[in-house]
Amino acid sequence: MAGSTLDPSLPQGEAKVAAVRAMFDTIAPRYDLVNRVMTFRMDVGWRKRTVRELRLIPGARVLDLACGTGDFCRELAAYKLRPIGIDLSFGMLAAARTDAPLVQADILRLPVPDGSVDGATCGFALRNLVELNGFFRELARVVRPGGRIALLEVAEPRHRVLRMGHGFYFGKVVPRIGALLSDAGAYRYLPKSVAYLPEPAAMLADLRTAGFVDVERHLLSTGITQLVVATRA
Ligand SMILES: C[S@@+](CC[C@H](N)C(=O)[O-])C[C@H]1O[C@@H](n2cnc3c(N)ncnc32)[C@H](O)[C@@H]1O
Repeated sequence: MAGSTLDPSLPQGEAKVAAVRAMFDTIAPRYDLVNRVMTFRMDVGWRKRTVRELRLIPGARVLDLACGTGDFCRELAAYKLRPIGIDLSFGMLAAARTDAPLVQADILRLPVPDGSVDGATCGFALRNLVELNGFFRELARVVRPGGRIALLEVAEPRHRVLRMGHGFYFGKVVPRIGALLSDAGAYRYLPKSVAYLPEPAAMLADLRTAGFVDVERHLLSTGITQLVVATRA
């Protein structure tokens, strides 16, 4: 996981934005099904944990950034929080199953006033962004002081044997599941896109620089998923 070893076939800049948007528009109709199958429904538990880690009181206003088909919006509403979903892909928003207000926008340029929300979640989208530090600065801009963020993302297990097993599953099995149920290209891109993620220590340092404190990283399900939580200073 380091930008410096990026596969040259992975798009950058505006080409990446266009590729990501087109890919999610394509896979939107079967996105939820593939998610449940390839994670053995573990994603349901990861989302519950993410929302609990916000530790916000009922009625709190929470942005779900890169909301996709609205899984986090539904979970936030179940905890009596007030979500607003924002995503780039109209296809994903059109397939969303949530009563939350939804907005089509780039989460690197949020159409939201400074300090106006109590918290934010973001699920499995960090590696799709063109500029992660720009996103962290945008989070710091819109979340009020004392507000909370919880970012869920894929990870690679630390243990060597687990990492090998996970690499095989993620690199070889997931693309086949994706090809069978949805779109082959998109699910070939998925394991490759992990290379966009910075090293964990660098990512946590960048969040502190952006204006967050109490920055913590939790590994879930043997380290195949990471949850990063923090408080706006
Ligand atoms: C893997 S999906 C995750 C969806 C949802 N958060 C979940 O947990 O299932 C990634 C989502 O990020 C969205 N996305 C990627 N780049 C974005 C950007 N710059 N602004 C807004 N949404 C973006 C995609 O359209 C897609 O819906």
